Amino acid sequence: MPDRSDTVPALPGEAAPSSRPQDRPKDRKVFIKTYGCQMNVYDSERMSDVLGDMAFSETETPEDADLVILNTCHIREKAAEKVYSELGRLRLLKEERAKAGKETVIGVAGCVAQAEGEEMIRRAPVVDMVFGPQAYHRLPQFLEKAARGERGLVETDFPVEDKFDELPAAKAQKTLARGKTAFLTVQEGCDKFCTFCVVPYTRGAEYSRPVSRIEAEARRLVDAGVREVTLLGQNVNAFHGEGADGKPWSLGRLVTVLADIEGLERIRYTTSHPRDMDDELIQAHGAVEKLMPYLHLPVQSGSDKILEAMNRQHTAESYLRLIERIRKSRPDIALSSDFIVGFPGETEEDFEATLALVREVGYAQAYSFKYSPRPGTPASNEEVQVPEEVKTERLARLQALLNEQQNVFNASCEGRTLPVLFDRKGRKPGQLVGRSPYLQSVHVEAPEEFFGQLVPVKILRGGANSLEGALAASLAAE
Ligand code: 5AD
Ligand code: SF4
Repeated sequence: MPDRSDTVPALPGEAAPSSRPQDRPKDRKVFIKTYGCQMNVYDSERMSDVLGDMAFSETETPEDADLVILNTCHIREKAAEKVYSELGRLRLLKEERAKAGKETVIGVAGCVAQAEGEEMIRRAPVVDMVFGPQAYHRLPQFLEKAARGERGLVETDFPVEDKFDELPAAKAQKTLARGKTAFLTVQEGCDKFCTFCVVPYTRGAEYSRPVSRIEAEARRLVDAGVREVTLLGQNVNAFHGEGADGKPWSLGRLVTVLADIEGLERIRYTTSHPRDMDDELIQAHGAVEKLMPYLHLPVQSGSDKILEAMNRQHTAESYLRLIERIRKSRPDIALSSDFIVGFPGETEEDFEATLALVREVGYAQAYSFKYSPRPGTPASNEEVQVPEEVKTERLARLQALLNEQQNVFNASCEGRTLPVLFDRKGRKPGQLVGRSPYLQSVHVEAPEEFFGQLVPVKILRGGANSLEGALAASLAAE
C-alpha cells in the first residue's frame, strides 16, 4: 500500500497529522461489511482503495477496526431493519472500544443509507456518517470532518461529478490477491421505474462510463492477472457510454472492443433488461467468442396484466420472441432470470402464466422472490396485496419447477468437456473449483498450479447446484 499518510486526516483521538514522518498516523484499520449485489462488492473494493491511499488496512474483525463501514443493500425485505440491528451491535462494540481508550468511526454507505438519509442518524446516533452510492470518493473529506469532531454527516445528494474520475484506479495488487475474476462497473442507475423497485430512487438516473475509461480499467485488471471480467450495471445493457468517435456506444460494441484485449479470456455482464437487448448485443453473443454463453435476463412474471402493472415495458410474448432471437445467435446460451410472485393483484391464473413461461423458456438457473412492498415505490400503495400464505405457496411451486430445470441443465452437461477457469480452492484438499462457461461451479481434483488457469474439464456429474469433473488431460493419459 503506498504511504501517502502525510495527507491523511487523523481519526478522532489521534494526533493531528504532522509533516514529520515519524508522527504520521499509521496502521489504522477498516472493517467493511458488504450486503447485496455485485455492484456493492465493486463499490466496497473501491472504498477500500480510497482508504488504502489513506493508510488504512482492512481487517476481518470489527473489534479491531478504527473505522467500520456497512455497505448496505435495499432490495431485500426488511433491509433497513437488518442494518439497524447491526448498528445496535456496533453501538456496544463502540462502547467497549471506548473503555479501552479507542475511538471507532461508524459509516453507513449504499442504498439503505441513500434511502434513510437523516433518519438514520436520528434512529441510530451511533452512526457518524451516512453516504449514498454516488459519494464514496468523498470519504477522505468525511473522515477529515469526523476527525474534527463533526458528527451526523449525511451525503445523499446525487452529485454531478463523476465519482469514477475521483476514485483511485483499481489496485492491481489487491485484485491479484482476490483472484482471476473481477467486476467492472460500466453503468449505474436506472430510468425504468418498475413499480416494485427502489433502485431508480437509491441509485439515481442512468449513467454510463466512457469506453476509454472502461478499457483502461480492463487493461489494468488484465495486467494484474485477471482473466475474466463481469461488466456491472443495474441496467447494464442500457449502456450508452461515449465511444472513441464521441458518439454513444452500445454494450455489444463495448464487449467487442474489450474482447480485443490480449490476456482477457472471458467477458460477462449483468443485469439486463429485456427492452435493452439490442441487435448489436444479440449478435455479439454469436460473434464474440470471449463473451460467455450465459445471460441473466429478468422477466419477473409471465402475465401481461402483471407485467403492465409492474411497468416492465414488455409482454410475455415479446420476451419469448427475444429469447428466440438470442438462441438463434447463440444456441447453447444458458438463461437465468428473476421472478416476483404475489405482486399486488396477481391471481392464480396470472401465476400459472408465469409457470407456463418458465416451461417454455427452460432456465439454467434463476432467482425468485415473494413480492414485498418497498416504501416510496408505486406498488407499495396498491390496496389488493396478495396474502402471505398464497405468496409462500406460489413461491414453493415456482421454485420446484426452476430447481427441476436447473437439475436438467446441469445433468445435460455430463459427458461434455468444458473449459473451466479455476478461481477458488475446494473444501476438500487437492480440489480446485472453477466456473464453466455457463457460470456453473465445477469441482475438480487438480494440482494447485492450475489455480487461475483455464483448463478443459470433462464433466462427470451434474448435481443440483454444481458440477463435478476431471481434468480432461489426466483422463486422456489414463
Ligand atoms: N419485492 C420482491 N422482489 C423484488 N425485487 C426487487 N424489488 C422487489 C420487491 N419489492 C427483485 C426483482 C429484481 C431482483 C434484483 O430483486 O426480481 O430483479
Ligand atoms: Fe429496478 Fe431493474 Fe426495473 Fe430498473 S429495470 S427499476 S433496476 S427492476
